[in-house]
Amino acid sequence: MKTMLNIALPKGRLGEKVYSMFEKAGFECLGVTEKSRKLIFENPEKGLRYFWVKPSDVAIYVERGAADIGVAGKDILLEYEPDVYELFDLNTGNCNMAVASVSDFHDNPRKTLRVATKFSNIAKRYYTSIGRDIDIIHLNGSIELAPLLNLADVIVDIVETGNTLKANNLKVINNIFPISARLIANKSSYKFNDSVINKLVDGLTNLTQTKEF
Ligand code: PRP
Repeated sequence: MKTMLNIALPKGRLGEKVYSMFEKAGFECLGVTEKSRKLIFENPEKGLRYFWVKPSDVAIYVERGAADIGVAGKDILLEYEPDVYELFDLNTGNCNMAVASVSDFHDNPRKTLRVATKFSNIAKRYYTSIGRDIDIIHLNGSIELAPLLNLADVIVDIVETGNTLKANNLKVINNIFPISARLIANKSSYKFNDSVINKLVDGLTNLTQTKEF
């Protein structure tokens, strides 16, 4: 029996875009984008098995070897620092990690800054690097609410279109770093499957160079 290459895709719009890139690179699999509750799809001829996971969980599957490869945002890789190979920048899912607050926010350096975020490690590293004393308020979503309700002074969060900030009268104070989707691989799987994984990387490289996706 042919061994299967296990591929973890991030559920949602980004994952669909990523799958279409994989498909164009010759890694197609019937049914992956069908609207259903099914999570695993196989192409036995090509030895491919795709599964949909929560975007923030992709790196866990790959690090632990439940998936050989996967696609995760640079934000997740910097927050959790999983022990995986980062093979390729897919240059999609582009957005920014940013500090934002209410439009009349003025920082008082004598006071500890209250920072609400899903990305506690990134926020801590950033504020340590600029020598600012902070208090992290870890939230799991709707981060934009925090400064509006005076739970926090600022937020550290992902800004893509900027629509969520705008709709809540918040503004970007600082862009910390740009984010995009990355192809990652389990370290030992990569040793055993390097030829097929490199074939995928080559296919994706051609696609991104010709801007075919
Ligand atoms: C993310 C992020 C922002 C929003 C930014 O939230 O945390 O809230 O998207 O996108 P925009 O700049 O295009 O408006 P997500 O949709 O993941 O939901 P969450 O609030 O539950 O984290």
